[in-house]
Amino acid sequence: METARALWRLFLVGVLGCGGAPLAPAESLPREASAERSSASNTDAPWWQGAVFYEVYPRSFQDTDGDGIGDLPGITERLDYLEWLGVDAIWITPFYPSPQVDFGYDVSGYTDVDPTFGTLEDFDRLIAEAHGRHIRVIVDVVLNHSSDQHPWFVEARSGRDSPRRDWYVWSDPATGGGPPTNWASIFEPSAWTLDERSGQYYYHAFYPEQPDLNLRNPEVVSALEDVLRFWLERGVDGFRLDAVAHLFESIELEDNPLLDALRPGGDEEPLQEHVHTMFLPEGYRLLGRLRRLVDAYPGDRVLISEAYTEDAAGLLPFYDDGPTDGVHLPFNFLLMAPEALSAPRFRERIRDASETLQGRPTTWVLGNHDQPRIVDRFDHGGERLRVAKLLALMLLTLDGAPFLYYGDEIGMVTTEPQSIEDVRDPVGRRYWPENKGRDGERTPMQWDGTLHAGFTDGTPWLPIPTSAAGRNVKALRASPGSVLMFYRRALELRGASPVLRRGALTLLDVDPEVLAYRRQHEAETYVVLLNFADEPRTVSLEGVSEVLLDNVREPSRLETAAIQLAPYEAMLLR
Ligand code: BGC
Repeated sequence: METARALWRLFLVGVLGCGGAPLAPAESLPREASAERSSASNTDAPWWQGAVFYEVYPRSFQDTDGDGIGDLPGITERLDYLEWLGVDAIWITPFYPSPQVDFGYDVSGYTDVDPTFGTLEDFDRLIAEAHGRHIRVIVDVVLNHSSDQHPWFVEARSGRDSPRRDWYVWSDPATGGGPPTNWASIFEPSAWTLDERSGQYYYHAFYPEQPDLNLRNPEVVSALEDVLRFWLERGVDGFRLDAVAHLFESIELEDNPLLDALRPGGDEEPLQEHVHTMFLPEGYRLLGRLRRLVDAYPGDRVLISEAYTEDAAGLLPFYDDGPTDGVHLPFNFLLMAPEALSAPRFRERIRDASETLQGRPTTWVLGNHDQPRIVDRFDHGGERLRVAKLLALMLLTLDGAPFLYYGDEIGMVTTEPQSIEDVRDPVGRRYWPENKGRDGERTPMQWDGTLHAGFTDGTPWLPIPTSAAGRNVKALRASPGSVLMFYRRALELRGASPVLRRGALTLLDVDPEVLAYRRQHEAETYVVLLNFADEPRTVSLEGVSEVLLDNVREPSRLETAAIQLAPYEAMLLR
């Protein structure tokens, strides 16, 4: 269960900021080392293969009713921007009825819209308006747990003989009292909470307000399948399946082994290997069942599973072509792991994906609502925006479906709460100050230079960073050299180019500090050069004659095979 342990630690890197397992040093690559990915060239591929997805965190995107919280009409209002930017699909994180303890990931009604976010009619309009602009819409489904306020849990909790008791995971106390096992929650020291009334504990992989559903109960699975049907019939193009590594726990109730490390900010809390609580085989089988349901609908609807794995091998069981069933597109978070801007480390991860996935469709992700903003994750030698463009070019030229996180395209920064009283994400209060929670990467989208950045007329639910005065969509659209215009140009080139959307990828060994790869489709070849070093490098490259996009210089013809790269320079060449 090496993967399970690693996955858990990686999730913690983002959620709890405790640092991941160090990566083995990259071996030097043979020239043109990686496996070519055959299916990437398939022109009959479904729309989602190689599509560019944009994650919208609805609370923070655009408020239209002045309550300081974004809403669905706000997303609809900003579709013109997303069309202009050039994305193929949006993924909207949960907007369902919820007490908002985990900001929507605690669902108290699976087939409705929380009044804070609007109505089902608003949702229908959003889908119609998005589809009218050829933008697909993916929604989140939280299978692992509901809110403790969901009527299912309220009923389950009403007594040991409630007909819904078995919809959740209950256990008697351990012999001698206390929680049944040592299982830790991702957000709390214990994953068990005592229900005083019945004297039993219930299990929650996340907050106590998010009791785990018992997915061994066929009635629960059937209810969740109805949820998928509901949204499929409303026209969604697919689902992002939340926290799928946690779907099942061992029924044997064995303790998890403890690690020789403490949780940052925890009170002498040892970390543990989640061998009995994550990545159980039953989970893959359930995903396969959901895939069959989704595949029965027309239009290539897609299932994207969220699980952090240490390496690409950990993703294989999530595909549907192996010994297990699976989904269409398991999230690949391999680019999230390197903590340093190191070409060898990124190269190693890309090579791992190429060699291990062998042409299976994949995703590439640098940022999301659980991780600090990408521009803050690396030491950039004072060249924050140049590095933001370098990372953008990497993300948008790899062979797979890139996921952009709202605001990364304008270089938004992580803005952490200044005091514990300001923290909204409960985990940030529990482990303050070592872990300040995830508020920092969820601040409102910066649309213009007005008060509250054009996000709301009310008081924003999280403060707008002061940098928003200059770092906003309106200002950056008017600035040709901006990070936003760089994203847009990269998206435009990608959209127009079968090479970038479908071409096979081959890693090139040009310089240890320069991440280099070739994309090839039919007779056309592109090369990407990314200088991860804070110093100039010269690389020699035959057969390319034109710079299509560059974060340091204007596109131009190349006069020589010796290419001089400035610190952190990123180049797309043909
Ligand atoms: C989501 C988190 C959420 C957790 C529990 C994750 O994977 O991305 O934001 O807190 O699942 O639902």
